[in-house]
Parts: sequence; structure tokens; C-alpha cells
Amino acid sequence: MNAQKIGVVGGGLMGHGIAYLFAAAGHAIGVFEPSPEIRASLPKRLRAIADLFGDDPALLKAISVHDQLGPAVAGASLVFEAAPEKLPLKQKIFADLESVVAPDTILASNSSAIPSTEIARHLQHRERVIGTHFWNPPHLVPLVEVIENEKTSGDVLRRTMTLLRDAGKTPVHVRRDVPGFVGNRLQHALKREAIALVAAGVCDAETIDIVVKEGPGARMAVLGPMEQSDLVGLDLTLDIADVLYADLDRTAGPHPFLRQKVKDGKLGMKTGEGFRSWTTETAGSVRERLSRFLVGQAKNRRKSSA
Ligand SMILES: NC(=O)c1ccc[n+]([C@@H]2O[C@H](COP(=O)([O-])OP(=O)(O)OC[C@H]3O[C@@H](n4cnc5c(N)ncnc54)[C@H](O)[C@@H]3O)[C@@H](O)[C@H]2O)c1
Repeated sequence: MNAQKIGVVGGGLMGHGIAYLFAAAGHAIGVFEPSPEIRASLPKRLRAIADLFGDDPALLKAISVHDQLGPAVAGASLVFEAAPEKLPLKQKIFADLESVVAPDTILASNSSAIPSTEIARHLQHRERVIGTHFWNPPHLVPLVEVIENEKTSGDVLRRTMTLLRDAGKTPVHVRRDVPGFVGNRLQHALKREAIALVAAGVCDAETIDIVVKEGPGARMAVLGPMEQSDLVGLDLTLDIADVLYADLDRTAGPHPFLRQKVKDGKLGMKTGEGFRSWTTETAGSVRERLSRFLVGQAKNRRKSSA
């Protein structure tokens, strides 16, 4: 692997994890973070990731934190933008980046939903802009959706995929800049049906979670929906689709049941009630269970690739 300089714009939830994973892969990282409080919290948050993996904290010396954009991204071969999800803000960041980086520096946005086509619309070198959608937490979840937009060059796509693969991620090439890319479209298709089933009184929210975790979810980490269809046969898949699809939820836009929950201030764990009811302890144990699972998986992956 070629050690490179990587820039990260925004040292929040996603930015600090992205910085860590590339430092752990042997690169030099410059993070631009405008908030003094968040800058001050970065060493502790980065150290917590090193502790999670049992890594030598000396690797954190490869990460420098800056209050200005220019020094953070100087000499970078690729910059990951992980700033708030607002189009005008991202457009301004990319315009500023274009004025301080080399012409061939790749500019990648971690936006969850804003097409990089829009972010790059007013730039001079649009061929070097690409979407890289990491999943939270980016140092633990392997997938990164690499989204080509209508101007992205083949060379930029290849270099981005290689950098991510060499850092131990699982990059996938998304050929069109569609809203939600691939992962969120699939995730929200499932959520849409789950919400409609609860709203119709077919089962309660807890039952939905049990069905997913103990049923299809129990095999999903090793069997994707396309290979599962091929496994059971497309003739059976078609027979089921013929009976079922006309009955699936087709509410246009978010379901009224979800809108009402939000209107009533039932926002989930942070308010004590969402689809299900939560105490500080039960919410804490869900977070703990998730973290333990993801860390275990990430450690196993590291072991098997060592
Ligand atoms: N949180 C998730 O689960 C998740 C998952 C995938 C993608 N994303 C996307 O990643 C991006 C960042 O999300 P996050 O959850 O890390 O948000 P965050 O609020 O935790 O972090 C954003 C950081 O950007 C900083 N910032 C504000 N203005 C800035 C500017 N002008 N230049 C540089 N930095 C600036 C903020 O101070 C903050 O530290 C968003 O586009 C989000 O949609 C988030």
C-alpha cells in the first residue's frame, strides 16, 4: 500500500471514524473542524476507537487536526467531506476545496442523500468529484457505497475503490447517483412495510424486530436477497411475488402513522418512546449490544485478513 495524505472535512460522528480508519491503514490524515469544542474532543474520541480495537494509540500521531481548511488538505490525494447535510454548505466547502487542492485531488462526499452531482454543479473540475457513502460507525461497518455521478472519471472511480479496499473496507460501485443510493433504499423499503404492518395492527413493533432478527436477518449477513432468490429458485420467487406484491404498502410518502408519532414528540430512545417504549437502561443495552456485535465482527475481519 502507498501511504498517502488524506483530508477529512468535518470531525463529527462520521469524520472522526473515517480519519481513524485511514490512519490505521497507514496514511497521514489532516482533519478540518471549525468548532473549537469538537476539535478539543477529537483526541479523546479517537483514543476511544484505538481502545476499542486494542490498537497502539501511537497511530493517532498520523492524524493532525486543523482550524483551517488549507493546511488540513495540503498535499492530499483524496479529501472526504463529512460536514452537515446541507446542500449550500457542501457546495461552499467543495468550492473552497477546489481553490486549495491540486487539480487531480479526488473530492469525495459522505452525504447520505444529496447527489454529488448537485454538490459539484458549479465546480471547474467535476470529473474528480465522487460520492463515498460510509455507514455509521465508519470504522466498524465494512460497506462503503462509491457513487459515480454523471461527470466522475473512470480513473477517479478506480483510485477511490482501491484506496478503500486497501484500507479494509468493502467498496461497491453504484453506477447512478439515485436518492438513497442502494443501501438506504433497501433499508427504507423494509421500514416502510414494517411501519404499515404495525399501523394496520397486524403485529406490534416488538414483534417486527423479533421477526427480522430471528428470521430473515439471522441469515442476511451471509445470504443477500439476490442469492437467496437464486437459492430458492426464481420460479418460486415469482409465485410469491404474484400473490404478495399487490398487497404490500404503497402509501405515497411517509406513512401517516410515522408522521403522527413525530407530531406527538414520540421520537424514539431520546424521548423514551417511538415505535417502542424505552428507559435509559433498555436504550443503553441496545447500544451496548450493537457496539459489542460490530466490534466483534470488525476484529474477526481484521484477524482473517492479517
Ligand atoms: N450519522 C450517520 O449515521 C451518517 C451515516 C452516513 C452518512 N452521513 C453523512 O455524513 C455527513 C456528516 O454527518 P455526521 O453524522 O458526522 O454529522 P456531525 O454533525 O456529527 O458532524 C459534522 C461536523 O462538521 C462540522 N462542520 C460544520 N460546518 C462545517 C464546515 N463549514 N466545514 C467543515 N466542517 C463543518 C461540524 O462542526 C461537525 O463536527 C452528513 O452529510 C451525513 O448525512 C451520516
